[in-house]
Order: sequence, then structure tokens, then C-alpha cells
Amino acid sequence: MTTYRIAPSILSADFARLGEEVRNVVAAGADMIHFDVMDNHYVPNLTIGPLVCEAIRPHVQVPIDVHLMVKPVDRIIPDFAKAGANIISFHPEGSEHIDRTLQLIREHGCKAGLVLNPATPLHVLEHVMDKLDLILLMSVNPGYGGQSFIPQTLKKIAAVRKLIDATGRDIMLQVDGGVKIDNIAEIAAAGADTFVAGSAIFGKPDYTAVINAMRAELSKI
Ligand code: DX5
Ligand code: ZN
Repeated sequence: MTTYRIAPSILSADFARLGEEVRNVVAAGADMIHFDVMDNHYVPNLTIGPLVCEAIRPHVQVPIDVHLMVKPVDRIIPDFAKAGANIISFHPEGSEHIDRTLQLIREHGCKAGLVLNPATPLHVLEHVMDKLDLILLMSVNPGYGGQSFIPQTLKKIAAVRKLIDATGRDIMLQVDGGVKIDNIAEIAAAGADTFVAGSAIFGKPDYTAVINAMRAELSKI
């Protein structure tokens, strides 16, 4: 049976009360905290860095899943590892040497992930499957929360599911962007097992109700 994981993105949290927000979302059943890092260079937005990761670390026992939307990416990786990140993923466009960056993440004791934008082809995965703990498929173009899910992602999820299964390895297949209660089941049916959701959770008054409703949808598969 597939283990499904819900990863609330703090991009949509109230940053003035971030400690309380992450504690509440973990109490509501979050399996990990998705931490979106944007640099106003690789993506046209600027968010949070290692200092904020370090600040929330004592507030949560679940893994912190750092999604780096930065270019270049290598220099900042050790800082996030020191700040308590458990998973670090990056976009291939942010690295001159993808294989080296994946090794760098693992050398720092974290799980490593590669992130594919909606238009990034799957061939970037081909020679590095053995170095991946997570593959993140973007279902929106990166940079902002609250965008709509791009339906073409479903086919891509199914294709990556096959690639993962062919390795026989336990690689998480994460989807990020526009994930809601009403589409999580079809995303899971396509082959995803880890779901990032920002505005669907932090935009709502009752985090437990949203996460329970997502799990109820997942239990139908
Ligand atoms: C977009 C970020 C996402 C985003 C998801 O660049 O990587 O994690 O916060 O937000 P929603 O769930 O609102 O689409
Ligand atoms: Zn993200």
C-alpha cells in the first residue's frame, strides 16, 4: 500500500506568527513542512532563507522539506543542512553540475531531490536516478502560491511513476502547485505519493479539517 504524505507549504502561512503556524499544521496532521526558497533571480519572487529554517526547526519534529528555487544553488546547500533541513531539492537549471549538487546534498546528511518545471523534460532524471530520494514535479510555474494546477502534469506524473518503479528504489514522487481537496485523488491516482499544498491549507481556518478531507480523498484510491 502506498504511503501518502501531505506537505503544507508555509509560503501561504502568516509569517508574523510562523512558529505557531507550523506547530498548528503539524498538530493538524502534516507529514512534513514544505519550505519554499525563492531568490528574485531564478524565480521572480523573494522569500525565506536558512535563518528562518533554523528558527522553525525547534517547533516541529517532522521533516523540513526545502525546495530551492535559487540559482546558483550549491553555495547555500550547507547552510540549509546546518539550519536543520532534512530534504533539499533544487531545479536542474539552478546547477551547472546536477550530479555534483545531488552528492553535495547527501554529503551534508540530507535527502536529495530534483525539481522539474512544467516544461522541463524528463531526460534530466535519466543518469541520476540512483542519487535521488525525491522527484518533485511542479504543477504550476514556480514563483507564487495560489496558482491553478496544470492538468498536463498528470501524464508526467504517470511517466515518472514508471521510471521510479523500474528502479525498485523508494523515491518519493512529490507534486507542487494547485493541489486541493478536489484534485488530490486524481493526482495520487496518476502516481504521486507526496502532496505540497499551500493556499489549500494555510488559506483556511481549520487545518485539521482540510488535511482530514485530503486523507479521506486519498483513502478512496
Ligand atoms: C510555488 C511553490 C509552491 C507553492 C504552492 O513556486 O513551490 O510550493 O507554495 O502553493 P499552492 O498550494 O497555493 O499552489
Ligand atoms: Zn514548493
